[in-house]
Amino acid sequence: MEYSTSNKHPLFLLFWLVFLSPLVLCQLNYRFYDTSCPNLINIVRSNVWSAMANESRIAASLLRLHFHDCFVIGCDGSVLLDDSSTFKGEKNALPNRNSIRGFEVIDAIKSALEKACPSIVSCADILTLAAREAVYLSGGPFWSVPLGRRDGTSASESEANELPSPFEPLQNITAKFINKGLQVNDVAVLSGAHTFGFAQCFTFKPRLFNFGGSPGKSDPSLDSSFVQILQKLCPNQDDSDNKLAPLDSVTTNRFDNMYYRNLVNNSGLLQSDQALLGDNTTASLVVNYSRYPFLFLRDFAASMEKMGRIGVLTGQQGEIRKNCRVIN
Ligand code: HEM
Ligand SMILES: *[C@@H]1O[C@H](CO)[C@@H](O)[C@H](O)[C@H]1NC(C)=O
Ligand SMILES: *[C@@H]1O[C@H](CO)[C@@H](O)[C@H](O)[C@H]1NC(C)=O
Ligand SMILES: *[C@@H]1O[C@H](CO)[C@@H](O)[C@H](O)[C@H]1NC(C)=O
Ligand SMILES: *[C@@H]1O[C@H](CO)[C@@H](O)[C@H](O)[C@H]1NC(C)=O
Ligand SMILES: *[C@@H]1O[C@H](CO)[C@@H](O)[C@H](O)[C@H]1NC(C)=O
Repeated sequence: MEYSTSNKHPLFLLFWLVFLSPLVLCQLNYRFYDTSCPNLINIVRSNVWSAMANESRIAASLLRLHFHDCFVIGCDGSVLLDDSSTFKGEKNALPNRNSIRGFEVIDAIKSALEKACPSIVSCADILTLAAREAVYLSGGPFWSVPLGRRDGTSASESEANELPSPFEPLQNITAKFINKGLQVNDVAVLSGAHTFGFAQCFTFKPRLFNFGGSPGKSDPSLDSSFVQILQKLCPNQDDSDNKLAPLDSVTTNRFDNMYYRNLVNNSGLLQSDQALLGDNTTASLVVNYSRYPFLFLRDFAASMEKMGRIGVLTGQQGEIRKNCRVIN
């Protein structure tokens, strides 16, 4: 009897069928593409790296794209789909229109992968990996990404319209996270993504000039010298609505814990950011993360893995798109 063929032993086969094959076929797994696309990580990383060399903001944009994918019918690449004759995509939903970006980077990665290992890697996995690389290459944590997501065959504009809004109360935002299987802690941790990237003036302007409907009043939870800086950047007229302000004005492109240090200083840009300090449950996390950067980086990685598992398709569900913008 040859020991080298022991994996053909009937008991091993039984073991495989009962315990291992469901893992391989129906759950995400860290080694999913190890043999089918060994160069995957290098291809994603080099493309994200060159996109960042061209424009550093793209890292933030890719992370947000993954969030907006996962919160709308799960991490299934639905956000990447263009409008088609059979459905409306998510790109024109209010939270996305003229706002989400990074599609060209995903397209470039997909076309490189279609050369290296055709029809193997899903767009949903590409987006998940690109978000991880974007965080890591911006100075943030590294975490292992479980893989094996499949691509969805539909999109939902109406669900995309329900993405968290910076104008709604923290309780409402938290309810939306809980609805996705996340927890209140994840709201405080994942909001730390606002440590890089930009927001348009209209997303926080009500805090500057007409707070609570009182003309000339600004948000009392906003540091007064920061208000003055923002008022100059976003003058009180409609044509400033689409100007950009950094979400973290101290270390704008770096993935670090400065978001929380800003919140503790009353310098959070969005009302929904500063609200994390106004609620006892989240405030103690904000204070802890402002003091202990490694605590934040560790928790962020763990919450990202959780977010990346929302509503995933696996096994024979969905498909592997050839072009991330259209179903096969
Ligand atoms: C908690 C509820 C959240 C709200 C209300 C919210 C809201 C916003 C808004 C209004 C913008 C600016 C968009 C624009 O002006 O075009 C933005 C940008 C951004 N968001 Fe969030 N967000 C939330 C959670 C998250 C999460 C969970 C992530 C990722 C894990 C994230 C990542 C980002 C990034 C990186 C940007 C900058 C994008 C860029 O510069 O292209 N956000 N967010
Ligand atoms: C470089 O960044 C600009 C935005 O700053 C973008 O319009 C352009 O498409 C990018 N070029 C490449 C090759 O990524
Ligand atoms: C917050 O949620 C409540 C209850 O679902 C809803 O009635 C209210 O309109 C929401 N507020 C905002 C600003 O979306
Ligand atoms: C917060 O404010 C304090 C005192 O005003 C200042 O020394 C510190 O640099 C600020 N921190 C950040 C991150 O802006
Ligand atoms: C929240 O914290 C504030 C200040 O520390 C305290 O006065 C208040 O009682 C707390 N509220 C709750 C519900 O724990
Ligand atoms: C924050 O840190 C304090 C002191 O280390 C700890 O007692 C508390 O449980 C932490 N709060 C949270 C929400 O993690």
